[in-house]
Amino acid sequence: MNYPTEACLVEVGPRDGLQNEATALTVEQKSNLVNHLSEAGLKVIETGSFVSPRWVPQMADSTAVFDSISRRDGVRYSALTPNLRGLEDAIAANVSEVAVFVAVTESFSKKNLNASIAETFDRYQPVLDMAADKQLPVRGYLSCVLGCPYEGEVNPRVVSDLTLQLLEAGCYEVSLGDTIGTGTAGSMTRLLDVILGSGVSAHQLAVHCHDTYGQALANIVVALQHGVATIDSSVAGLGGCPYAVGATGNVATEDVVYLLDGLGIEHGVQPEALLKASQYICAELGRESQSRAGRALSLKG
Ligand code: HMG
Ligand code: MG
Repeated sequence: MNYPTEACLVEVGPRDGLQNEATALTVEQKSNLVNHLSEAGLKVIETGSFVSPRWVPQMADSTAVFDSISRRDGVRYSALTPNLRGLEDAIAANVSEVAVFVAVTESFSKKNLNASIAETFDRYQPVLDMAADKQLPVRGYLSCVLGCPYEGEVNPRVVSDLTLQLLEAGCYEVSLGDTIGTGTAGSMTRLLDVILGSGVSAHQLAVHCHDTYGQALANIVVALQHGVATIDSSVAGLGGCPYAVGATGNVATEDVVYLLDGLGIEHGVQPEALLKASQYICAELGRESQSRAGRALSLKG
């Protein structure tokens, strides 16, 4: 079986993780987390989100978080931007790159962005234009690619068409979000076969697996086998999804690091330093790590 020799981990804990945690953290705690993660060798850290505080109150202080982190050379600090206002705030906060997000079903789009899929693309056009003007890279996200909490199964063709639409609109990469974690190695294989068969290259894709049904690592192995080498993950498996009851956080970064080590795939993350980041944030939140590898390594001492 062919695997990539190197993988890029996109750490989404400070955004996707913390946006769903009930415990409110201070700016200092959030920026400590980001700093621990960059010390551990993570090169892409989704640090915040410039969205409406009415919708996601946990991210309301993203400007202050960006102001207080210690930026390391070679690390990209990114943020979500749902509209032009978000992009302007992100630029003012000196982000390295931004991300736009689209759902693959109309029901989820309405719940997450209060707009239809077509309306979200219209809203993103000025965002993409301004980002291009400022030479700011834009990542695209697709939510619910392997199942929707409202509409159930999703046709891979729909996901493939939206992936192409995001790439044509100017995104350099599309992260395929299994938002509710219902995907399996079978459905991930079928999805990637359709997308890669439609002319999209594996280098333009990332996978963003939530671990609700314990299938995230299996789905990531399938993605790696298809040549997809960019993997989103969240330290300690932080997070969930406010619009999908019972959905858990992203796959834990510690578990992905353990998987990649086993496959001999380079990733640049130091497991001990990552464990420190994980222990720090779990202590601040007063919760247990969701990472199986992290718990095992902690017990070893
Ligand atoms: P809306 O209510 O339809 O529109 O929200 P609005 O323009 O009337 O805005 C509502 C209020 O928000 C107004 O304030 C605006 O000024 C303010 P008010 O006048 O009522 O006091 N507002 C803003 N404030 C700060 N920054 C902004 C901003 N924009 C408006 N940028 C909107 C439409 C898109 C704004 C809203 O639906 C929104 O912010 N949605 C974001 C939801 C979100 O962040 N979801 C989580 C991220 S997606 C995700 O987690 C999935 C992912 O991980 C992949 C996966 O797992 O699938 C990426
Ligand atoms: Mg997510």
